[in-house]
Amino acid sequence: MILTARDVTASYPGAEPVLSRATCELANGTRLALLGANGSGKTTLLRCLSGAHKPDSGEIALAGQPLHHDKKSLRNHRRRVQLVLQDPDDQLFSADVTQDVAFGPLNLGLTTDEVRHRVSEALDLLGVTHLADRPTHQLSYGERKRVTIAGAVAMRPDVLLLDEPTAGLDPAGVEDVRTALERLTGQGTTIVLATHDVDFALSWADEAAVVAGGQIQQGPITRILSDTELVNRAHLRQPWQLELAIALGLDSRPRTMIGVLEALSSSHRPTG
Ligand SMILES: Nc1ncnc2c1ncn2[C@@H]1O[C@H](COP(=O)(O)OP(=O)(O)OP(=O)(O)O)[C@@H](O)[C@H]1O
Ligand SMILES: [Mg+2]
Repeated sequence: MILTARDVTASYPGAEPVLSRATCELANGTRLALLGANGSGKTTLLRCLSGAHKPDSGEIALAGQPLHHDKKSLRNHRRRVQLVLQDPDDQLFSADVTQDVAFGPLNLGLTTDEVRHRVSEALDLLGVTHLADRPTHQLSYGERKRVTIAGAVAMRPDVLLLDEPTAGLDPAGVEDVRTALERLTGQGTTIVLATHDVDFALSWADEAAVVAGGQIQQGPITRILSDTELVNRAHLRQPWQLELAIALGLDSRPRTMIGVLEALSSSHRPTG
């Protein structure tokens, strides 16, 4: 496992825990969709996995090594695990796009040439090379979202944690993000993506983790989204393939539903 959260309890001051002994495991190269209602704890889990939020108890481990929340351990962790926040305005702070994407790599102490190379590679991967010289405050929301992902990609992390990267993007913007994610997966990056879009999740992810009632249920995405009880409990919606199958009166036993999803979602997936 490249990254794990084991038996993690996490809370904010003066409130009940958001996560209670929750476990989530990421094998190398996984594409994991993180699903759950508003306020269920998706962002909290991502913050725990990134080292930004220290759990009350339980363990975060990177490649089997437990994360200690001291400066040195956090530094090493953040170099390999990058979190892209839900709101791009919480993440962008440099005057222009190139400076912003270069910020992380510069902090790694890389040479100017290497930084330049990483920045141009990351901008290209996210399809935002044309924005390189633009002031960040002038960018549209969708442009800012993609620039923040480029900033994380330029760090060449082993694990990329994306908090609702497609929220607020138009269909073409969503497809550009999907293309970038496919390329990152091709390079071996492990990706966790929090989303409310079950159709996107099904067409992109191989696994899903659902946060509900402080717990996490993880498994193959077709199995998780076929679990009507879990989907309802987590206030999710079933993907259109299942809604169609149910509307057509197909046998709704879980095995059949998984079969429907496997058959109908495979056409979305890139081969290889
Ligand atoms: N900094 C904070 N201080 C206090 N409570 C917080 C803080 N951040 C989150 N919470 C609370 O923790 C719970 C989980 O929030 P979290 O942001 O993890 O949910 P989420 O699943 O990401 O929701 P959404 O889908 O709306 O993004 C919520 O009840 C929220 O109000
Ligand atoms: Mg959130």
